[in-house]
Amino acid sequence: MINVLDKLFFLTTQTTSYLFHVTEEGHLEHLYYGKRLSHLLSTDIDALKDKHHINIGTEPCYNEDNPAYFLENISLETSTEGRGDYRIPMVVAEYGQGLSTLDFVYKSHTLTKGKPIFHDGNAQAYGTPEDSSTLAITLTDKKLPITLTLYYTTFDTCDVILRKAVLSNDMEGKLLIRNLSSLQLDLFDDNWDLITFDGAWSRERIMDREPLRSGTHVNESRTGLASSDHNPLVYLARPDATESHGLVIASNLIYSGNHKESIEVSPFGKTRLLTGINDSLFAWTLNQGESFGTPEAVLTCSEDGCNGASDHFHLFVNAHIIRGEWRYRERPILVNSWEASYFDINEDKLYELAKQGHDLGCELFVIDDGWFSGRDDDTSSLGDWYPSPSKFPSGLATFSRKVHDLDMMFGIWIEPETVNKKSILYGKHPDWMIAIPGREPVVCRHEHLLDLTKKEVCDYLFKSISEILDTCSVDYVKWDMNTVFADLYSFSVSDMREYPHRYVMALYGLLERFIQAFPHILWEGCASGGNRFDLGMLCYFSQIWVSDNTDAFSRTAIQGGTSYGYPPSTMGCHVSNSPNPQTLRISPIDSRFNVACFGDLGYELDLTELGKEEKTTIAEQISFFKLFRPIFQFGTFHRYNHDSIIQWTSISNDKRTMATLWMQPLNPSNAKSDRLFIEDAEEDAVYDVFPRSQRIPLSLFGHLLKTVKPLATAGETVQKVVSENLTLPSEVEHYTVSGSVLKHAGIKLNQQFSGTGRDSQTRVFSDFGSRLYLIKKH
Ligand code: DGJ
Repeated sequence: MINVLDKLFFLTTQTTSYLFHVTEEGHLEHLYYGKRLSHLLSTDIDALKDKHHINIGTEPCYNEDNPAYFLENISLETSTEGRGDYRIPMVVAEYGQGLSTLDFVYKSHTLTKGKPIFHDGNAQAYGTPEDSSTLAITLTDKKLPITLTLYYTTFDTCDVILRKAVLSNDMEGKLLIRNLSSLQLDLFDDNWDLITFDGAWSRERIMDREPLRSGTHVNESRTGLASSDHNPLVYLARPDATESHGLVIASNLIYSGNHKESIEVSPFGKTRLLTGINDSLFAWTLNQGESFGTPEAVLTCSEDGCNGASDHFHLFVNAHIIRGEWRYRERPILVNSWEASYFDINEDKLYELAKQGHDLGCELFVIDDGWFSGRDDDTSSLGDWYPSPSKFPSGLATFSRKVHDLDMMFGIWIEPETVNKKSILYGKHPDWMIAIPGREPVVCRHEHLLDLTKKEVCDYLFKSISEILDTCSVDYVKWDMNTVFADLYSFSVSDMREYPHRYVMALYGLLERFIQAFPHILWEGCASGGNRFDLGMLCYFSQIWVSDNTDAFSRTAIQGGTSYGYPPSTMGCHVSNSPNPQTLRISPIDSRFNVACFGDLGYELDLTELGKEEKTTIAEQISFFKLFRPIFQFGTFHRYNHDSIIQWTSISNDKRTMATLWMQPLNPSNAKSDRLFIEDAEEDAVYDVFPRSQRIPLSLFGHLLKTVKPLATAGETVQKVVSENLTLPSEVEHYTVSGSVLKHAGIKLNQQFSGTGRDSQTRVFSDFGSRLYLIKKH
């Protein structure tokens, strides 16, 4: 809801209020963002304004008749260079002889129902006149015909505010945009911790928290992708804010390219947050009559800690970012060929894997890399989108029919944006590859980017890939991208500083064509794992592969970090081999499942090679997951790590059922007693609490087995067969407990195994051991 009273703008979401007004000099002063203000007196505005009545020291005054008006010490909704605000500016645009002084003041505003659709190529959120409202404020430069329009959209059922800026040039000369952020938020004080989500390939979006200090902190990507290095998601949290308590403000960007978040603490202790396209790799020329629209930014605020803010993002992403037939639809359990056989695939082998997946309960079979002509390793054939006749002698279409006959969905992997030099496509069109004439290009995984800004490139990709999607009745596509931007050059662009953004816009254009043409397909994004996990991609892909690292313990940090901005329904999470191919860590198959089930579950290992007990375990996991899938994918997801225990809870939308992950990374030996708290329990309710039953492989006990009767005297062969094939049921533990005990006192759990005995109640945990506790309301 948005109200305008005179020149006061009052934005309200379900639990937050956002206020700003027009100052006596025409600037937009930010007044408040925080817990919803239930009612406002007209006299409150005076209390909310920052007070400046005397000029201090050498502060440059904006107007001699108003000597205390000093832009640097006002919380502003937008900022420029050259008028006395020395913080990082939201807008930098050059005209004439390199001048960049601009001064935007209020001109007019409009208030409309709904969320406008912008035709500037950006990925964008959507809303209807019934569920959203938009305020557009037009500001003009005091001297030149240059206009800045700020858009603010609120949604009736989501606690976020969407922001966007559009800069228009009506001068005769050119205007060169050097920076245009999507969002500026100036906060009154600097008592914040900055939380960012950083990493690299195979350790994406690991949460990082540091107190803010004077000066500027930059969170950015320069690789051309939103990147695994630094996600555009950032949080500002009060130092005492935890997962469940305290004030946090967070922003994210609907953009898949180079981004930059600058967080500056000014000399006057105010905090400025800017987010948008990364200015250091960007410039854009506006001729007279032209405009440039930024990507949209999403802002949220919660007094219920980080879980409160991530709840807001999760609701928003599912309601206003994910679109099409897969919106709110449960995602199929898949089996993927990559870590099962990598490039070593053929139709017989794949069929065995699909059949085994089907028998265990999987619903979708995905052929990952290696299915197209000439692709026997990663050095060749990207760009040649024709099925390999040697791997599929009966044809890929026939194979897909066989998978469909198993009553499974059929999916393939593609990587359309890149080309190998060793390919038919490159032979025919070397000029379609991005490279600077005369300079040997940097190469990443033997591949190069295709110039998507060329129409003929997109037409070729659309046509050749559509043919496969049609003839093979493809139900699912994994869209991968395994390179980064380097040696950017295109004959079709005159200023290469425009190119990274033009590429992203061309990519969005191509994706739009595909999703329009194949609306039933479930699209999963991927970029060497999670190198492009962002809200821009989620406008086209209903889910994204979180990381190539499928190790259960690593995934607690990776999925945990990702969950601060993105709901579990968007996260591709697979059970894979042990030792894990990325970390060589050995972890129980149930822990791999217990972590992967908080998202879009899949299996990525050779199911045909598994022993009987492991197959039974997987079949049980899948049956369990099918019962609880709506909760894991679309329930409320909360993080509650404490001491060294990793704890996540998913809560059903009717709040009657919860599932909690409890993972102990290392077995401390002779462990102290454990307690299980469920902070989301309702005080007055009564719950049944019990662990999902798991299988403890006897092999876990190693040589101890030789000390247990009757095995002790059974001989080595029998001991070996028993140890490799038999399992024990996990502990029996069941409580009927009040919500207030569950929330405040915690359940004192059964003892852990410590090497000196076990009974049916003993909780047996190896390193990286875990349980899923089910909590059901009476
Ligand atoms: C990188 C992806 O992240 C992997 O999951 C797999 O699809 C490979 N590419 C295939 O080349």
